[in-house]
Amino acid sequence: MDFFDVATTTRAMRRLHPDPVPDEDLWTILETATMAASGGNTQPWRFVVIRDAEARKRIAAWYLDAWEKTYGPARELMRANPSSAMTYNSANHLANHLAEVPVLILVTIRKDNFRNGPIAGASIYPAVQNLMLAARALGYGTTLTTLHKLHDAEVKELLGLPEDQETMALIPLGKPKGKFARPPRQPVERVVYWEKWGETRAR
Ligand SMILES: Cc1cc2nc3c(=O)[nH]c(=O)nc-3n(C[C@H](O)[C@H](O)[C@H](O)COP(=O)(O)O)c2cc1C
Repeated sequence: MDFFDVATTTRAMRRLHPDPVPDEDLWTILETATMAASGGNTQPWRFVVIRDAEARKRIAAWYLDAWEKTYGPARELMRANPSSAMTYNSANHLANHLAEVPVLILVTIRKDNFRNGPIAGASIYPAVQNLMLAARALGYGTTLTTLHKLHDAEVKELLGLPEDQETMALIPLGKPKGKFARPPRQPVERVVYWEKWGETRAR
């Protein structure tokens, strides 16, 4: 696939088929993730591939609880606004069907990276984005999710994470039910300044 077709259509895909994902595709996706940049090339990432049905069920229950607690109170408001209704409905679908997603990938980082403050995430999210782009190139949908953090301790215990690891993202992966498309974004001309803050230009 053309790189720009991949990069401009890698959006949150939350309605996924339960069909199993072959190991070969997972290796390609995960190896691409490990080609990402990290501070000093420390490669502080680890990826836990979760396909076990019971583990997915337990994580899905924690995720749904986190979803309800975080977004439940805003349900009516978000559904009433057309610009948030689509994201709400899609995220609500994922929260209610996470156990059916064939693969969940938990991305972790070594905690000592937190010495760097907010920059710690900068050594993990390039790998996460590489993972999502590679998945897209092979026709798989993904979403970067973080709601599991409300049940972080339970997730860590279930998967046997050592003390020195922090969870950074949980990525559901599977063949999408819908079509890949460009995501809704502000026009680039509006968010790019030339030479000085606020100096926009027509394209
Ligand atoms: C740091 C971060 C955390 C996110 N957490 C969640 C999450 O917990 N659940 C979820 O469904 N989507 C999550 N998302 C996905 C965003 O909602 C999504 O990227 C955004 O709505 C844009 O979607 P689009 O690319 O389809 O337009 C997260 C994205 C980021 C970058």
